[in-house]
Amino acid sequence: MKVLGIETSCDETGIALYCAERGLLAQALHSQIAMHERYGGVVPELASRDHIRRVLPLTRQVLAQAGVARSEIDAIAYTEGPGLAGALLVGAGVGASMAFALGIPAIGVHHLEGHLLSPLLSADPPAFPFVALLVSGGHTQLMQVSGIGHYALLGDTLDDAAGEAFDKSAQLLGLGYPGGPAIARLAAGGTPGRYRLPRPMLHSGDLDFSFSGLKTAVLAAMRRGLADESSRADLAAEVQAAIVDVLVAKSLRALRTTGHERLVVAGGVSANRQLRESLGAASAQARWRVHFPEPALCSDNGAMIAFAGALRLQAGAAPGVGTGMAIDGFRVRPRWSLEDLGAA
Ligand code: KG4
Ligand code: ZN
Repeated sequence: MKVLGIETSCDETGIALYCAERGLLAQALHSQIAMHERYGGVVPELASRDHIRRVLPLTRQVLAQAGVARSEIDAIAYTEGPGLAGALLVGAGVGASMAFALGIPAIGVHHLEGHLLSPLLSADPPAFPFVALLVSGGHTQLMQVSGIGHYALLGDTLDDAAGEAFDKSAQLLGLGYPGGPAIARLAAGGTPGRYRLPRPMLHSGDLDFSFSGLKTAVLAAMRRGLADESSRADLAAEVQAAIVDVLVAKSLRALRTTGHERLVVAGGVSANRQLRESLGAASAQARWRVHFPEPALCSDNGAMIAFAGALRLQAGAAPGVGTGMAIDGFRVRPRWSLEDLGAA
């Protein structure tokens, strides 16, 4: 079964072709970062328009790269939500129309389920059950995952997401968008601890997060004065350390609470080297193991959508049920809780 995946929920147009028998056949990605950079964040209307320009050329590119004809596609998976409404409509509209024209099923995929399952595409995939730490620009969640569609929320952010904390701190530091990679780059030349930033809710006793206070603390540290470039690097290193410390501590607590022996980290922030190293070091002395997506699959991409769509169809999900409808139209869900998703 060959599934074409279409991701257009935010600022990346991601297209991929996944084959249930042979794995990932081809993928292509267009990032809009350069277009949004000068606004300091994603401009929704510009994002939608750019997806319109990219989605069909990228689809042709993926099919050519895979050497697969349009008539050989068995199903189309597109991101139904959550995300920017206008941006989602592009992928959903194109996906559903293409499926209708080809007479094949279309299935709407939950963006976070795509992220969550993306480590299963790696060479050493985790088995169920596991604890998932989902860390993206809009979400910071700990989930208990017992199988496809069986997701129980263990903890969530009360305000800003981890990626958002990186992005907003980067903005205060005068770094570009997206902030995560920019902070990580600057932090590489700095020393954490010289500035002390709070580790919000580190000892709250639960699995929730709060990152909104971090930007206030960054602002206060900056007001006290950043003499030179090396001070900026030290502050960036402390921002990164503060976020990573909290993510690591809460993940360990989630493993203890559930008794699970596998931790899966996914979403854009899972690319962060410090986070990978800290969790890697913690797991080295423990009974549990940590799994990350391949570096190319950490941020938004079409492969995770094609893959999640294929798994759902294999699990017997009726195309369109509880999702976009290929024949009767389609819909998007800009706000959509992963817990509401349910099994196939
Ligand atoms: O999953 P993603 O690509 O898009 C959303 O669904 O939100 O995540 C984007 C987020 C941004 O906040 C970005 O700053 C962050 O992931 N990010 C990183 C790194 N790469 C991307 N944060 C920290 N370190 C990184 N290396
Ligand atoms: Zn994402």
